[in-house]
Amino acid sequence: MKHVPTLYFLLSTLLILAVSIESLQPPLFPDESLPTKSGYLPVKPAPGSSMFYTYYEAQNPTTPLTDTPLLVWLQGGPGCSSMIGNFYELGPWRVVSRANVLEPNPGAWNRLFGLLFLDNPIGVGFSIAASKQDIPSNQREMAEQLYASLVEFIEQNPGFENRPVYITGESYAGKYVPAIGYYILKEKPNGKINLKGLAIGNGLTDPVAQVRTHAVNVYYSGLVNAKQREEIERAQEISISLVKAQRWREAAEARTELLTLLGNMTGLATLYNTARTIPYRTDLVVDLLNQREAKRVLGVSETMRFEECSDEVEDALRGDVMKSVKFMVEYAVERTNVLLYQGMLDLRDGVVSTEEWMKTMNWSGLGMFLAAERRVWKDEENGDLAGYVQRWGNLSHVAVSGAGHFVPTDKAVNSRDMIESWVLGKGLFGREDVHQTLTSSVLESKSNRFDSGY
Ligand SMILES: *[C@@H]1O[C@H](CO)[C@@H](O)[C@H](O)[C@H]1NC(C)=O
Ligand SMILES: *[C@@H]1O[C@H](CO)[C@@H](O)[C@H](O)[C@H]1NC(C)=O
Ligand SMILES: *[C@@H]1O[C@H](CO)[C@@H](O)[C@H](O)[C@H]1NC(C)=O
Repeated sequence: MKHVPTLYFLLSTLLILAVSIESLQPPLFPDESLPTKSGYLPVKPAPGSSMFYTYYEAQNPTTPLTDTPLLVWLQGGPGCSSMIGNFYELGPWRVVSRANVLEPNPGAWNRLFGLLFLDNPIGVGFSIAASKQDIPSNQREMAEQLYASLVEFIEQNPGFENRPVYITGESYAGKYVPAIGYYILKEKPNGKINLKGLAIGNGLTDPVAQVRTHAVNVYYSGLVNAKQREEIERAQEISISLVKAQRWREAAEARTELLTLLGNMTGLATLYNTARTIPYRTDLVVDLLNQREAKRVLGVSETMRFEECSDEVEDALRGDVMKSVKFMVEYAVERTNVLLYQGMLDLRDGVVSTEEWMKTMNWSGLGMFLAAERRVWKDEENGDLAGYVQRWGNLSHVAVSGAGHFVPTDKAVNSRDMIESWVLGKGLFGREDVHQTLTSSVLESKSNRFDSGY
């Protein structure tokens, strides 16, 4: 009898000890790092399929939330998860340097704007595809599903109806971003998405023109010699002739082969960034998101395994890879703002690769754009070279210094400054062309007044 209280005391002490040891272990996701919301958005045309998202509200909005811009981020691949963007590139907390340690991002893109990451299309990352047949195999199907999930997101959040929406993305999202923009502008101009701009980072948009730039690009960079340059040119032409024959899947495979050849010849750690000595550590995101705690806090079933890129989705879209969406950019730039930015150290979809198709755009403003001054962009903090900005009318082009394919990973703060200035039309993205072309002092003082925010 006497021993029962002692035993009870002993057991409860042990329990308290166990609980406190548990809580000594810092949580994988500190409270401040949690998304404002995350979960699933049903994709109507494919019942049972749904798109996974994480949403981070603006940290320091300068307008009421109902007017605060929303940035949507789409990863490339095809088939790669936007959680790479979230936890390795532009999200507020990232695992850029240490496994399973989230650190605040000094250049998070949600300082002034809301930021929505979507695992697009279905089958990617934590998104669910009811069957393989439901995974899109072209940009039209992709856009329909993406549109449905965006509308669902807006509808689930009262007060979001009028928020200006900017669709952004990287790499193969150089196809997705124009495709969803084109779909909204052409087919849903009075729909639920208040589209205000499209931004593509290191994008694949007009593949034939872009594939043709590899040989000259690496040759004039000194990475290959004249003989190797010819070999690369032959490999490029194989892919291009398969496009001409409309053998789309084989053309995409030939492009992959070409990129492997480039990697072999140059011996670089990664074609994504000529300055890196090791590949980008996107594997850190895979480790993070396969932790039980990660799935619990994000609202994902414990049985789901997170993969950086989905082979099924890549397979479904392989026949789409080499198809151009340049005409969609041409359509969009007549109706909304378009930003094309590239990290300059990328050998896959870099500056030359993008300029090659930009300069052939069928757009009424092209002549003015090409004649516009390319201006030096300096880091506001330290005056260092940040890159170059060229803008006319609705089209902006930015070359980002010191960055490769994953611009926000390499230049977090500069990438944030770029996206904020572009959305707000400030600084080098301001409408200075008005007083460049008109000399009236009245107009000059007017436009100066509007540009004085920078
Ligand atoms: C690249 O190198 C690997 C390993 O040496 C080799 O197996 C492969 O055939 C090469 N591919 C090309 C396209 O050069
Ligand atoms: C630029 O976009 C606006 C809509 O924001 C549109 O009204 C205008 O016509 C476009 N300008 C050009 C030159 O295409
Ligand atoms: C350029 O676009 C205009 C209208 O947007 C179209 O009528 C014309 O056929 C296009 N030209 C070419 C060469 O594609």
